[in-house]
Amino acid sequence: MPVILITGANRGLGLEFVKQYAACGWEVIATARDPAAAPELSALAKSHRSVRLEPLDIGNHADIKALAARLGQQPIDVLLNNAGWLGDTRKQSFDELDYASFEEVLRINTYGPLAMAKAFMANVQASEQKKIVVITSGLSSLANTSRFGNLYFYRISKAGVNMAMRTLQAEVRAQGVKVGILAPGMVDTRLLRQSGFEGPGVIQAPQSVAAVIGHIDNLTQDAEMILYTGDRLPW
Ligand SMILES: NC(=O)c1ccc[n+]([C@@H]2O[C@H](COP(=O)([O-])OP(=O)(O)OC[C@H]3O[C@@H](n4cnc5c(N)ncnc54)[C@H](OP(=O)(O)O)[C@@H]3O)[C@@H](O)[C@H]2O)c1
Repeated sequence: MPVILITGANRGLGLEFVKQYAACGWEVIATARDPAAAPELSALAKSHRSVRLEPLDIGNHADIKALAARLGQQPIDVLLNNAGWLGDTRKQSFDELDYASFEEVLRINTYGPLAMAKAFMANVQASEQKKIVVITSGLSSLANTSRFGNLYFYRISKAGVNMAMRTLQAEVRAQGVKVGILAPGMVDTRLLRQSGFEGPGVIQAPQSVAAVIGHIDNLTQDAEMILYTGDRLPW
């Protein structure tokens, strides 16, 4: 069966990705900062022998290297960079612009997926599907300026990771690797609640994840930003 490595698998969208891929019979390497402190994820690993838990903080390069060493030559069909952080909303308002906080958001949302791609490129290339995916945000679109005006760090970090993935796609096109930049919509998770958003249009994780999985299945080498609905989002 195909193998997927998922970051931020302990809750929110990441946990739902584990559930749905495991239900489809995939081998899932479910990573989280502290898997032992994630009861739902641990229960999934107990009920599905194909789910393997691994500790991983994507902001920590030593952690990434250690996981790469543990996995060795294991082929990875889909490297799913799901983990992300909104950051402290007050510290990224124009009034505050706390640059230590900015650095931290970039470390997780932008450097993290790129470092993961580098660490696991050989594993992806050794697989059948050869896919690297990042879960971005519609808030990264330069055309989207209407809401969440104060989330400077989050929006910049996601625009940055989009560019990293576009650049990566050009780099690995000839090796047959496909890079996906997928936006899950506004999904009822801790991250959305922390943003303070209360408007209409919020969906639940199972709906978003099922749709995103469909886009991962049909990934091309275009590296466009695709919303869960299938709409292409403007950069
Ligand atoms: N929900 C939405 O409306 C929405 C919209 C657009 C994009 N997204 C994106 O969707 C992805 C998943 O977010 P979510 O909505 O599921 O939010 P969430 O429930 O807050 O989950 C975020 C996940 O990222 C993990 N994470 C954060 N920092 C990490 C680090 N340094 N190393 C490893 N894992 C780390 C968290 O682990 P801990 O429990 O250890 O913190 C958690 O598992 C994110 O990339 C987010 O930007 C979400």
